[in-house]
Amino acid sequence: MAEIEPHIFVILGATGDLTARKLLPSLNALIARNALGPKSLILGVGMETEFNDASFRDKCRQDLAAANIPQEQIAQTASDKRLFYQTTGKGTPEDYEKLGQRIEQLEKDNGMPGNRVFYLALPPKVFPLAIAALGGAGLNKSNGWVRLVIEKPFGRDLKSAQELNKVVHQSFEEKQVYRIDHYLGKETVQNLLVFRFANALFEPQWNRDRIESVEITVAESLGVEHRAGYYEGAGALRDMIQNHLTQLATLTAMEVPEAFRADAIRREKVKVLHSVLPIRREDVVLGQYAAGKIDGKDVPAYRDEPGVAKDSQTETFVALRLEIENWRWHGVPFFLRTGKRLASRSSEIVVTFRRPPVWIFKPFDVETIQPNSLVITIQPDEGFDLYFEIKAPGQGVRIQQSDLRFRYSELFPRLPEAYETLLLDVLQGDATLFVSDDWVEASWRLYTPLLENKPKVVPYAAGSWGPPEADALLSDLGRTWTKT
Ligand code: BG6
Repeated sequence: MAEIEPHIFVILGATGDLTARKLLPSLNALIARNALGPKSLILGVGMETEFNDASFRDKCRQDLAAANIPQEQIAQTASDKRLFYQTTGKGTPEDYEKLGQRIEQLEKDNGMPGNRVFYLALPPKVFPLAIAALGGAGLNKSNGWVRLVIEKPFGRDLKSAQELNKVVHQSFEEKQVYRIDHYLGKETVQNLLVFRFANALFEPQWNRDRIESVEITVAESLGVEHRAGYYEGAGALRDMIQNHLTQLATLTAMEVPEAFRADAIRREKVKVLHSVLPIRREDVVLGQYAAGKIDGKDVPAYRDEPGVAKDSQTETFVALRLEIENWRWHGVPFFLRTGKRLASRSSEIVVTFRRPPVWIFKPFDVETIQPNSLVITIQPDEGFDLYFEIKAPGQGVRIQQSDLRFRYSELFPRLPEAYETLLLDVLQGDATLFVSDDWVEASWRLYTPLLENKPKVVPYAAGSWGPPEADALLSDLGRTWTKT
């Protein structure tokens, strides 16, 4: 692991939800692991003028305590030697000049070389303003390195993503930019690369000759919670499919990169997107949850959630079929499915293999056996299962399925949080697990026509696996979604 150089971690949007729920706890975990190197300062930046260093530290202590973090760790993270606050007030050029002066002062006081991370934990609509303001104040360069971290959503369609990339590139070079998709920080997602490219066993099977279909599901049992303000204008296509599920699809489908290097991996992922055929509207099912039961408890319909319009047409479920038109995947459908208020929280990739070409176990019908499959469980109960056929003991041939199983929890005490991994990568300057400008645009190019001409949204009961229409997407394979 590369040494982390002394740096200042500047969080824009430091008084917001993301900072309290994800960034601070992850920075805290890294500090507790002594992973941040000899000198690491955190500068919280917010519009609020009522905060100062001391009151911001108090707020952070409370937020960390609410995340059940032990007091001695909190004291280390929210210490007066490490954690500071600076307001940007109304966000005028003078405010950003002052931010620059504060950073320089902290660097001078602490003998730091000018390495800076700017983390935009801000509402997406202010990204362009904040990025331009950083550039305007000359904060895009320093005597050390400067890195800009941007949270999703990165645009809301192709045009807005292109515009945002333009604003970013007016002030920052692409190599300074780290676009976060937190799914790429999940251990099991990273393991996909090791699984595929460190094992000679699977790669020869990983193509249209051996694989019949790939199903990628990210199911949540939670509803929209308190996020209607954002979600009503987004919907599951923008919130989950364009980014997280499409990332999983490109990692599953990509060619072997020439090296385990950011540029090589990112290039192969983009090539997959360029090979996806335009999505047909009939290959897409959009749903919205109606009232139902989750874990035996009644839950309201999406339209009855606080902040949601009574006639909302926002989709909380998407199932769709992608066709990747290249030599490896021609004719192998990739099914993507995600939804809120589904029966359980489970994210997995199911790779279904073709049945044997010749079937000798007559009179059993080959159609009655379950095909071989590989189930990669991303969460919870992370691991994978390889399903194969066995003979049940006794007279005559009776075939049933069994599996080879690996579970992270049986081998490793703890999996790091995605944000811990990603923050450390930013500090090390490793962009492998971040989203490149061309990936973002290629992905929006794929989904923008659908967003502009959305299929009808159909209802499904909360606690189900989505609308029955989603099953019909697999009808030409003679089956429905794999139940694991
Ligand atoms: C976020 C979405 O990006 O991912 C949320 O905005 C979703 O709507 C969340 O709930 C799911 O992430 P995870 O890590 O809980 O699967």
